[in-house]
Order: sequence, then C-alpha cells, then structure tokens
Amino acid sequence: MCGIYMTIQQTDVHAGEKVFAGLKKIEYRGYDSWGVVVLNKFGFTLKKRTGKLSKLGQMHFVEGKCALGHTRWATHGGVTKENAHPHLAKNKSFVLAQNGVVENFQELREQLLDWGYDFDSETDTEVIVGLLEFEMEQQKEQKLTSKIIRSVFRKLTGRNTIAILTQSGDSFAVRDGSPLIVGRSKDSAEIYFSSDVVSLSGDAVEYVVIQSGQMVEYVGKKLKITEVKSGKLVPFSFVPMSLDATVVDKEGYSSFMLKEIYEQAKVLSKVVVGKEKEFKAVAKTIKNAKTVFTLGAGTASYAAGHTAYILRKLGVPAVAIASYESDSFKQLCDEKSVCIVYSQSGETADTNEVVEWMKAKGAKIISAVNMPGSTLTQLSDFPFMLQVGPELAVASTKAFFGQMVWGMTVCELLSGSKFVEIKEIIYKFEQQLRVWFADILVQDKIRKLAESLVHKQHLFVLGRGDLYSSSLESALKLKEISYIHAEGFSGGELKHGVIALIEQGTPVLCLVAEDENKANMLNAISEINARGGFTIVIASKDNELYKEWIEVPELKFRGMSFMTLMSIVPSQLLTCYMAMKKGCDVDKPRNLAKSVTVK
Ligand code: AGP
Repeated sequence: MCGIYMTIQQTDVHAGEKVFAGLKKIEYRGYDSWGVVVLNKFGFTLKKRTGKLSKLGQMHFVEGKCALGHTRWATHGGVTKENAHPHLAKNKSFVLAQNGVVENFQELREQLLDWGYDFDSETDTEVIVGLLEFEMEQQKEQKLTSKIIRSVFRKLTGRNTIAILTQSGDSFAVRDGSPLIVGRSKDSAEIYFSSDVVSLSGDAVEYVVIQSGQMVEYVGKKLKITEVKSGKLVPFSFVPMSLDATVVDKEGYSSFMLKEIYEQAKVLSKVVVGKEKEFKAVAKTIKNAKTVFTLGAGTASYAAGHTAYILRKLGVPAVAIASYESDSFKQLCDEKSVCIVYSQSGETADTNEVVEWMKAKGAKIISAVNMPGSTLTQLSDFPFMLQVGPELAVASTKAFFGQMVWGMTVCELLSGSKFVEIKEIIYKFEQQLRVWFADILVQDKIRKLAESLVHKQHLFVLGRGDLYSSSLESALKLKEISYIHAEGFSGGELKHGVIALIEQGTPVLCLVAEDENKANMLNAISEINARGGFTIVIASKDNELYKEWIEVPELKFRGMSFMTLMSIVPSQLLTCYMAMKKGCDVDKPRNLAKSVTVK
C-alpha cells in the first residue's frame, strides 16, 4: 500500500529514470496511481499518472540529480492525477510524498482553510504540505528545516511516513509505521530512500532501516538520523545487502506467485536455520503463559488458527484472534499472556494495533515476520525472521507456509521432540514436495481441472480438524487471484446449512487426511455426491467416492502433519492457472495491496 522511492545522485542526471525503475520494484505493494518529480536548476518537474507504470515501458524524465517518486493506493480522494503524489508546495520550495493516513485530517484541513489555504487535491497529504508552508511563513524561513518538519509531524495523528525533497536538494523523511529504508551505493555517491529493502537491489550495496519515530535527513552530503520527538541524534550503521534480500527475479516463471509456490520446496527449512536457542526460549515462555493468543490478518490469521489448534491439542489454553475482531479479547489479556503474531510484512495496521494494546497490558509478544526492519519486529519481545526470502506476489504463499512451519516447530518442541528431529522432517517435506512438483501426471491434472473450473461461479473447500485452517486458506487463495467465489468450511458444517448450495456440478474441493476425521469427511463427500456436486479430493489415498482425486504425499511426524500444507498446494496452483486462463494479473490482483498499512 503506497510506496516511496527517492534518490540523490552526485553526478548522474538520470535520477528520474532511476526512481521510475525503483517504483517498478515496489509495484507489488499495491497502488492505483503514481508520480515522479525531478529537481534541477530550473526547479521541480512533476509527472503523475493514474494506472500501472509497468505497462508504460521506458519513460523519459528531464535531467536532474534528485528525484522523488510515489505509488499511491487511494484512501482520501479518488484515483486522479491531482490526488497522486508527490505534492508540490505552493511556494515551490519542496515536494512531499506520504504513506499512511492523517487521521485528524478534517480538523487540520479546516484550520488551513480558515487560514486561507487553497487545496489542489482531496488528499490528507496536502494537509501536511499546507502545515509545513504555514510554519515556514510563521518562522520566516525560506527553506524547510528539520525543526519545522518535526513540529508539524507532531501535530499529525495516525501512522504516517513522509519523504520530502527541497528546492536546494536537501532530503528528509520521517517514519511512523510504514517502512523506510535508506541505502547507499558503493562509493556513497548515491543515496536512496525506499519503502523496502528489496527495491534497493542493484542500486545500493548497504542500507539502514529507519525505525518508527525517527527522522532521517540528507543535507550537504551528510546523513543524520534523529528522534522525531526529542530531536536527539540516533547512532546508526549501514548493513550490507544480503543475497536473499536481492532476489527479485522471476527466474523463468510466468509470475512471482508461481515462482514462490515452487520455492516452498526449498525455503521452509530456512525457518529453523540457526534458531534453536530462540525457538527453545519461546517454547519455554509459552509453557509458562496463562493464556496464549495467536494473531494475524487474512492468510496470517489462518496460520494463527492452525497454531492455536495444535497448541490446544497439547493442552495449552490458546485462542486465535483475527486482527480486525480483537475487541472482545481485551479483558482476557494481561501480563501473564503471550501473543504469537504472524505477519509477512510486519506492517499490517490491524495487527500492529492489537499488538500495541496487548503490550500495554503487559503481554509478551512473539512474532514471525518476513520483512526485516518492520514495525512488528520492533514491537516484539521475541522477533523471528521467517527467512523464506522476499515474497513479491500480493497473494501470500511461501510466507504463510513459513508461519505454519514456525508454529509446528514450536508445538513439536513443546511436546518433547528434539530440534534436530524437527529440522530433518522439514527437509524431508521439502524433498517430497519437489518430487510432487516434478510429477507430470499430477501437474497436468491440476492444469486440466483449472480449465474446467474457470467458468464456475462458486466453489467450496471442506476440511476438518487439522485441515480446517487449510480449507479457509485454500478458499482465500482461490478468491484473491482467480476471482472465483470460494468459501472454506469445516466438513462438519456442511449439514448445518452449506449443503443447501450444492447442486448439479457445484465444485467442492475436499481435503482428506488419514486421521480421525477421515470417516466424517467421507460422509460429507457422499452427501455432496448424492446432490450432484462435483467432488475433487486432495488426499494421499484414492477412494471410489471421489469424482476427481489429486494425489498428494502425506507426511507425519508425531504431532506434526504436513498434510496441512500439502493439501493447500493444489489450490495455490489451481488459482494461478485459472487466473492465467482468464487473463488476470496473477501477481497484482485487483483492489488488493501486499502490505495493508492503513485500517
Ligand atoms: C494473503 O494472500 C493476503 N493478501 C492477505 O490476507 C494477507 O495475508 C494479510 O493482509 C496479512 O498481511 P501480513 O501477513 O503482511 O500481515
């Protein structure tokens, strides 16, 4: 959701082109309009457009060594050129781009209107621009200073990250919430500000993550980081870009999503690499907790649901919370509570808000995140990096699998298994998945099924027990990418209402494991068949009841059932193939953003 990319070059006059290329790398965050402003001796030149920049091919900009770019995901005001960022100050002394929402925007806008400010857009962003200009006038300053920015920033409520480029080539950025990274080239001749580390690949060789509540300024070739509230200097050091953070290539796959699905066969073991001590510490903390909450939004909420399910089976009082439905749990949370939080981005506003109130109540926060330097990592007592590599498709696949494996590992440790045994079984699962991906017959079957399902209006996914969360996640994947109306249900829920929707040819994906739920799932399948439904069963063993069978391996190790993951992979593939067939954008589904940083 919204992205910032800014550069200050010492010699290269193609800053505009560099920023345009940078914006393409943060496209995955989700946006509906974009803008690039270039600074040269004649002042600022702005180019703004609605729609996708990737469709435009090569673009040319006026020459200039400094440029600021932004991808906007509309919140205040429609998708128009006028509302796109960056916004130019009326006194032409600076341009500004913002990620976030100014929650007290109406009140501030009215104040500015009273003072005679004339708005050019409907955005909350322009309120910040107006306040900065007003403050410059009050302080009789010709140039924007860090002091002015600090005082205006303190007037804003909500989470906002802003980037500013001034007429004299000074650049400032303040982070509250939405991520902000500063990178520099090998010889320090080029400075970059961006919304994520991945986009800096190819431009910067090292980076520093700006933390929430910090301001960074690059003035007179000097980089300074300060606390926004106090203005106190913050010591910092650059870290080298790691190889993992720079893999932003489709590597021959038609989409990042397809590539990331296939990567599940090699990145899951990374979740546990080098983390034995940390996992054991977390297991101990959970053991001593009075209540364990598991938390996440969307896909991450299903991983949370699954972890809570296995924790309860181990006798741990665990409750799963979907981030946007947390109110009723407030009274149950105290200093004896522990919360396990899943988030790919670590920037989900709904999730981080819950974490904040839980922290205020004294709960311990354990998080499993995939983005280095994210807000959630900062908020956590036990932050874990999932280490599955950048996930660039909007739909989460490998990060979700990483969260599931993280939860399974902790639970297995709690039930007494050795860390080394858990590691081995994860490797084994990866191996099995590689073999399954290479099975041409199964893969062909999935492609053909996708073709036969592509014109269906509705599809249901049934799973029970351990596979209930898997059914919810499978349905979400199908909705998000192929736009088919898919719903996940417990196999047990069928008779209590859902069965009314089954008619001749209604496709129902059924997830069946060789466990205590199998008999009930077979009953459900018979009932669907009896009403003409089309049952497609994902299972390790065939059965005459199945209209279609997608064979998957079923790996178990004590309490760990990898069927929870394996049963989802066919849906991940089905949704990709269906979307491709429909001509949809697999990596950037309509209306969705990778990182949902506003509420
Ligand atoms: C995943 O496919 C979805 N796009 C979405 O549900 C996502 O999982 C959710 O918004 C949470 O994001 P997070 O993992 O970055 O917190």
